Amino acid sequence: MKITVKKGALRDSTTDAIVVVSFEDEPKPEGTIRDVDAACDGQISSLITNGIIRGKLYETSVVTTGGVIGPSVVIVLGLGKKGDFSRDKLRGGFSKAAQKVRELNLKTFATSINDGHAGLSLEVTVRTVVEGVMLGLYEFTPFKTVDRVEMKTVNEFVIMGTKLPTVKKIRTMADKGEKISRAVYYTRDLVATPSNEMTPTILAQRAEDVASKRNIKVDILNDAAMKKLGMNALLGVSRGSSEAPKMIVMEYRGADTTESPIVLVGKGITFDSGGISIKPSAGMEDMKDDMAGGAAVIGILASAADLGLPVNVIGVIPATENLPGGSAYKPGDVLKSMSGKTVEVISTDAEGRLILIDAFTYAGRYNPAALIDLATLTGACVIALGDLIVGMMGNDNELKNRIREASEATGERVWELPLPEEYEELIKSDVADYKNVGGRSAGAITAGIFLSKFIGDYPWVHLDIAGPALLSKSGPYIPKGATGIGVRLIVELLENWVKRK
Ligand code: BES
Ligand code: MN
Ligand code: ZN
Repeated sequence: MKITVKKGALRDSTTDAIVVVSFEDEPKPEGTIRDVDAACDGQISSLITNGIIRGKLYETSVVTTGGVIGPSVVIVLGLGKKGDFSRDKLRGGFSKAAQKVRELNLKTFATSINDGHAGLSLEVTVRTVVEGVMLGLYEFTPFKTVDRVEMKTVNEFVIMGTKLPTVKKIRTMADKGEKISRAVYYTRDLVATPSNEMTPTILAQRAEDVASKRNIKVDILNDAAMKKLGMNALLGVSRGSSEAPKMIVMEYRGADTTESPIVLVGKGITFDSGGISIKPSAGMEDMKDDMAGGAAVIGILASAADLGLPVNVIGVIPATENLPGGSAYKPGDVLKSMSGKTVEVISTDAEGRLILIDAFTYAGRYNPAALIDLATLTGACVIALGDLIVGMMGNDNELKNRIREASEATGERVWELPLPEEYEELIKSDVADYKNVGGRSAGAITAGIFLSKFIGDYPWVHLDIAGPALLSKSGPYIPKGATGIGVRLIVELLENWVKRK
């Protein structure tokens, strides 16, 4: 689908459909909707008067025009009460409107934006609308062959503005929204791709592909290189699989080379069977998503480069499968990590933290201004926060606050879990420095504490995305399946970082 920006009035649009918005507590059509209503002989206002169009949140009423204007339908999108309005509802609303256009099998649609909607700036409104439309229309279809012929797709979304300066601003923001949404698409595709088609080697190729089209350098460490570096925690996890592990390192330098980078570490388990501590088979198919953190990091770097953000960002993605096998690592094994610290393996299913710690030690070489890791780390976090909320832990309040601020803008919700000192003894081992499991209670937190032991003296935040990475039920603008969680959040953080430098 392409996004176009045009100067002109919405009633003169040449698209198949146009979208206007209405609020529940603003019954009289104003502005654009009044103009469109007048062109349609007052049909919309009479539907409002008769209580058929009520402006309820996500209501999408289809009004046929009978050819009195170019578009064959007007979709009146309800956005609820003005007082309850939010950026996330605007995203959800435009997603619903776009999905309605697709359901009607129409190919092109338009809306007009001349000021911000209900308290949002023009810029924020445009970006949010574009995100809603694009994120909501996402579909993962590469493996569908039978239904493909009947598939409906929308080809074009047009945003119209009446004044030239406004049109210029709209173009800039629509472009940003589109670039970020494309990065989210890319990440969603990586996560949705089944593990037989998304091995560590293929993931590394995708990272190279992303980098080769942009101002990004990429370095892929193979097992020999990792062995030299002493990454025995990661290598231990990979032993059960015949797929070669990869440490993917991406570098985007948008600022002065002397400036310390923000380092992003993303868990890249392309399939997590649990290993010898094998998982129950029910739902195991979802464990193809265990590289969602790594996929997000690739999307974030792509986006940072596409937007040309003046900031240095390094992505480090430890990638391997976690399988049982004749040479698999076993409970009771002790692994010596790259940091020199040793870990007793209690469960081979607590593999994420093992590959992350070697990535952290490697990341330390970059002298990070901040380190953020994204990982589908614990089922315990899903139990605690469900699939709408990311678990956040870390050692630096300012960084956490910056993430909270970004989260409010993007709607990717985060909630902090503490890292209490008293729980540190839960991961003490009798035979090694630490053990990789702290027991059943506070599972997300003990995982966070384990990670903290391998973090240097820099601000660090751990984002446990186990719940939000893959949804079994669609949200207003996130179709079920892979979500691309974290991409918009960290891109927003990077954009704000630049502003505050
Ligand atoms: N990848 C899983 C965590 C996960 C669970 C992600 C559900 C997405 C949905 C992780 O590697 C794992 O298996 N964690 C174990 C840790 C336990 C053995 C301490 C878990 O949460 O059960
Ligand atoms: Mn696991
Ligand atoms: Zn895992």
